[in-house]
Formats: sequence, C-alpha cells, structure tokens
Amino acid sequence: MTEQTEKHIAVVGGTFDPIHFAHLELGRAALRAIDPDEVWFMPSGSNNYRSVRGRRAEKYHREAMAKLALEGEDEHFRLSDWELREPGSTYTSRTFAELNAIYPDVTWYYVVGADTLSSLKYWEEPELICNSTVLLVAGREEQVSAADTQAAAETLRARYDADIRFIPWNDRPVSSTKVRQSFADGTIREEDLPHGVYDYAVKHHLYRMLDTLSDEEMLERAGATAEEFEYFERLKAELKPKRVKHSLGVMHMAMLLADGYRNVPLEKARLAGLLHDCGRIAGAPNNALGHAPAGALKARRDYGVTDEAVLSAIRWHTTGRPGMTELEKIIYVADYIEPFRGSMVYLDKARRIAYTDLDRAVFFAAQNTVRYLKARGEEIDPITLDCMEYYRSALDKKGVFR
Ligand SMILES: [Fe+2]
Ligand SMILES: [Fe+2]
Repeated sequence: MTEQTEKHIAVVGGTFDPIHFAHLELGRAALRAIDPDEVWFMPSGSNNYRSVRGRRAEKYHREAMAKLALEGEDEHFRLSDWELREPGSTYTSRTFAELNAIYPDVTWYYVVGADTLSSLKYWEEPELICNSTVLLVAGREEQVSAADTQAAAETLRARYDADIRFIPWNDRPVSSTKVRQSFADGTIREEDLPHGVYDYAVKHHLYRMLDTLSDEEMLERAGATAEEFEYFERLKAELKPKRVKHSLGVMHMAMLLADGYRNVPLEKARLAGLLHDCGRIAGAPNNALGHAPAGALKARRDYGVTDEAVLSAIRWHTTGRPGMTELEKIIYVADYIEPFRGSMVYLDKARRIAYTDLDRAVFFAAQNTVRYLKARGEEIDPITLDCMEYYRSALDKKGVFR
C-alpha cells in the first residue's frame, strides 16, 4: 500500500493593487477544475517605490485588502505572504523554485488568465516557471481557442516542456488598473470590489496622490492612532507649517521603508517619523543640530513616549551615528528623502538606493550632508563624520564599491 502524501496547491499571484473579483474568480476556477487542497492568493512583493507619492497602495495596504477580500470566501482559500516578506520586487520563477525546494511533496499549480499566457515567455526565467508548476490557464472559450493563445501554449510546450491545462471560468471584466482609475476619478462603487475592500481603500485614501491629501487624510492613510492625532495637533501648534508637512512626509516615508524591509514594526516607524522634529520649535534659537536630542527629551517628557527605540531614532535623526538600529536608519533616511522634499535628481537617486540597501542610503545621505555643510562653511558634528566613515567601511566590507 502506498501512502498518498502529495498535496496540490494552486497559486493565484499578482500585485493585488487592489484585489478584485477577477482574482477571486481565478481561485474559484482552479477549485472547480482540479479540486486542490488549498488555493493560495499571493500578492507580489514590492519595495514600495511606486508608493512614494501615493499613487499606488503600500504593500501593507495591499495585504490588508487581500485579507479582507478572502474573509468568508471558500475555506480552501489562503492569503500567502510569501512574496510580501521579501524586501524588494519578487519574481514568480524564483518563488516557485523556492516553494518546490521547501515543499517537495506539493504539486504547484500556477493559475493565470489566458491573456497572461502570451506574455509569459517575456517574464524572468519562464523555463523555471514551466518546470516548477503546472500552468492552469483560465479563459472564456473564445479566448482559449484564439490562435494567439494556442500559439503561445505551443511555444511554451515546445521550448520548456510546459504542462498547460486550460480551465473554464466566468470572466469578469475588471482589472486593477481600471479600479485604480475609477478611484482617482471618483466613479468607483462599493459593489465593484470584494467585501470590505472599497471601505478600506476609501478610509485610507488609497490611489490618491499625497499632495492632494489634507493633513488629517495623511494621518488616516497611515492608520494613525487617536493619540497620534493629538500629537499632531500639538506639532501644528509648535512647528512651522512647512515643518508640519515635512513631519507627515517623513512618517509616510518611514512606513514605506519599514514595510518594504519588514525589519521594524510599522507603528514604531509611524510614531518616530511623525515626532522626529518635535524639538524643532518655531522661533527657538540654534536648533539645527540641537533639536534632535531636544526632541527626544521632549517626546519623552511632554508627549509621554516611552518606547526607547522610537526615542533613540528621534535622538539620532540629524547626525546619524555609527552602528544605528534599523529604526534609526529608517528615520535618518526618511528625513532625507521624504516625498514633500520634491523631485530632484539626487533625491530620486537616494530614494532608489533606500529601497535596495538601507546602509548605502545612510552613507549616501551622510556624504551629501557633509559635502553640503562643507560647501557652506558650516559646522559639522564629528559624529556625522564618524557615521559616514562607519557606513563607508561597512559597505566596503560588503563589496559595494568594488
Ligand atoms: Fe530634524
Ligand atoms: Fe526632519
């Protein structure tokens, strides 16, 4: 007697920005066709670069919406954070190679729409996808029988020995692009999206550019707590309006980085970003460097912040220091590249670096700050130089400059 341990898992992938009915329908089509043990909905990873100005939803928002959409759906449906855990963009081929290595007893089915089939050969390593999955191609009858669909299938079979099975489905004419567009132009209706997704997106003002959001809407987008709303009122009373906006920008940016790397809790990034300049009281003398330690003190004493990680991120946000914690790095870098600083070549460069290597972004910011201060003949805190040298040598050890 042979023991049957093999499992069958179908995977529906995509950016899920936002998740919509066609994604769910792909899962149902797979259920009907092959009766798998589980259907995994797997939002792709991303470094959040496209969310800097707010047009695209943050990774954590995409994840939250997918979770809502799956509530009350078929019991075989699961939300998989496999790709969300990755700090950068993810490739389907690599995901399935890893899944196969880790779960050798699972047969993986990759569920795609018929329109995806034609473009698959242009993806990263299509042979790896074809060799590590069974492709379940969902389409209406006329789509499946269309000459280009069949030609694409033949090519993949001939080149990569692909196992392609066509499955019927009830196509719904939706796409994430259209959904985002209708959010932008205000034509979206609740019934256009799966349960809870519309409310969530509206509540967090997703698919709207940050510079069209009010201060309160920025806080709502970040999911700020009632306490943080109060902190914000205080900031507004004490800081210049431009500094207040900047604080919201740093909060947003810090959360994007924390979400991208998933190295610190979002709540800490939000609080530290929001309060990082709380010591920079309008009209106070000589606060260029002194406002960071003063801010850490003020956050503890006047705002009642007790989280040491948050306090030290505020403490070191201006000068940086050697051997910073992940949160300290995030606040230091976010302060430098937050979206309301606008779009300049060196800033966009720093933003791209920040999403791929946080240490490198720290070094880039420190180096530019030192250059800037030198050019203006201003005083440089020795610890800024120490910070720069520390990260230069850390990167050197990693081989970044070679
Ligand atoms: Fe500051
Ligand atoms: Fe700042």
